[in-house]
Amino acid sequence: MGITFPLDLWGSFQRLKHFMQYLPHAVFAADRTGRIVEVNEALIRATGYTREELVNHPFFQVLPYRGTIGQLHSELIAIEETGSVPAEVEYRNKEGKLAKTKAMIVVPQSDPPLYMVNLFQLNRSTDDNLMEKVVDQLITEANLGVVVLNVRGCIVEISQMACRLLGLERGKVINQHIDKAFAGIPEEHRLVKRELLEGVKMQNKAMSWTNSSQRYELLVDSETVYNEAGQVAGAYILFKDVTNLRSLDQKIERNDRLAMIGQIAAGTAHEIRNPLTSIKGFLQMFQQSFTESGMERERAYTEIMLTEINRINALVSEFLLLSKPRDVQYQIVDLNIVFEEILPIVESQALLHGIDVNYASRGQLPMVVGDNELLKQVFLNICKNGIEAMGNEGVLSIHHHIDIERDLISIDIHDNGPGIPPYVIDKIFDPFFTTKEEGTGLGLAVCQKIIHDIGGQIRVSSKGYGTTFQILLPYL
Ligand SMILES: Nc1ncnc2c1ncn2[C@@H]1O[C@H](COP(=O)(O)OP(=O)(O)O)[C@@H](O)[C@H]1O
Ligand SMILES: [Mg+2]
Repeated sequence: MGITFPLDLWGSFQRLKHFMQYLPHAVFAADRTGRIVEVNEALIRATGYTREELVNHPFFQVLPYRGTIGQLHSELIAIEETGSVPAEVEYRNKEGKLAKTKAMIVVPQSDPPLYMVNLFQLNRSTDDNLMEKVVDQLITEANLGVVVLNVRGCIVEISQMACRLLGLERGKVINQHIDKAFAGIPEEHRLVKRELLEGVKMQNKAMSWTNSSQRYELLVDSETVYNEAGQVAGAYILFKDVTNLRSLDQKIERNDRLAMIGQIAAGTAHEIRNPLTSIKGFLQMFQQSFTESGMERERAYTEIMLTEINRINALVSEFLLLSKPRDVQYQIVDLNIVFEEILPIVESQALLHGIDVNYASRGQLPMVVGDNELLKQVFLNICKNGIEAMGNEGVLSIHHHIDIERDLISIDIHDNGPGIPPYVIDKIFDPFFTTKEEGTGLGLAVCQKIIHDIGGQIRVSSKGYGTTFQILLPYL
């Protein structure tokens, strides 16, 4: 005989519906005429039909059986009684493909009576496979940080990208507690925090993260996951690396600041320079009289004062360049001549510090369109920084290479000084940023402005040891 349930279990059709949804296998309920009255999600997933395509349609949409549902029921019971429980039936998915599954029909004592058709082995639909592939790809390939935690705070899944960024090894941290996986990092600095499991959620939160080699700007989403009973089941966190976008933001901010400083500079630089010119003139007069009257000590003082005034003047000039670089005078510039002219200055400064200069591009540089004097200033500044960074020994090398794809010449100025730490490198082009006691912090800001004005680019790379500045220019 068919299995029947006591009335109290199947009291209402509503309960039957709920019950069906919780079953892991595919189920549908049909009335006496064979019309489908309810389906569960497992059936929808497995067959590829929508709910509407099944409910209110005859059951042979799914089971291509030439008889009534009552006949099918009896047939299955007959097979079950021979011992092969459960029997097999043929089913059809939306694409019309036929396959076999073990099936059992039960008739609960509901009112009106219904046939509850259980299909135990429906093959997973191609959509299910697709979903699995997508999840797999998110975890392994996509450039997305994914971390899934269970309710105990153990890492259930973590994507490759998250591992790379967080400096973890996937095989090691799966099933490991976050306190262990992130040991050594104080709780407040962790990306994956315990509070995720306490219902704290994040949406598009900008966070930064620094691992041993690099600083990342991240956009983070996280959410607590609840089970059907409303209890916390786990949590997940998703993040994208938006370092590029953020550094663009920072560049814009820096340019704004530069423009503002420029305005102030333009307004005050002349005010400083004019009085300086008269002070300088009178000092020179004093100097002459002191010389004539043999006042050697006083003459020496004026000497010092004049040097200091020249320093102020130089500073103000740099300052002015920032605001309104002397209008670029476009001309065809032979970079070879530029370097022939600045090398003696660079070499004499290098010599003072016991540094060798290796200029490898003699006579090989192309012509560019730019401004002779301003370009000299750029290369001098960068060479000077290199020499200052190396201290009392080292090699300053000047090479070039052609970026064929973008039609740019790159002049590469490399020093083997201590390098620029990652937390500093973002700031070196900011006006007034300096790490030197005697520095102005204007050198690179001015260089950047000049190169930018003539359509080029400055890049810096410094990995741990040594620094290379690349000055990229369109060439002829
Ligand atoms: N070649 C280099 N090696 C290491 N640090 C450098 C180098 N070039 C520039 N810097 C850093 O960038 C900062 C800003 O440089 P710059 O704008 O020329 O100003 P200044 O030389 O007056 O400090 C320097 O103080 C230094 O910290
Ligand atoms: Mg400098």
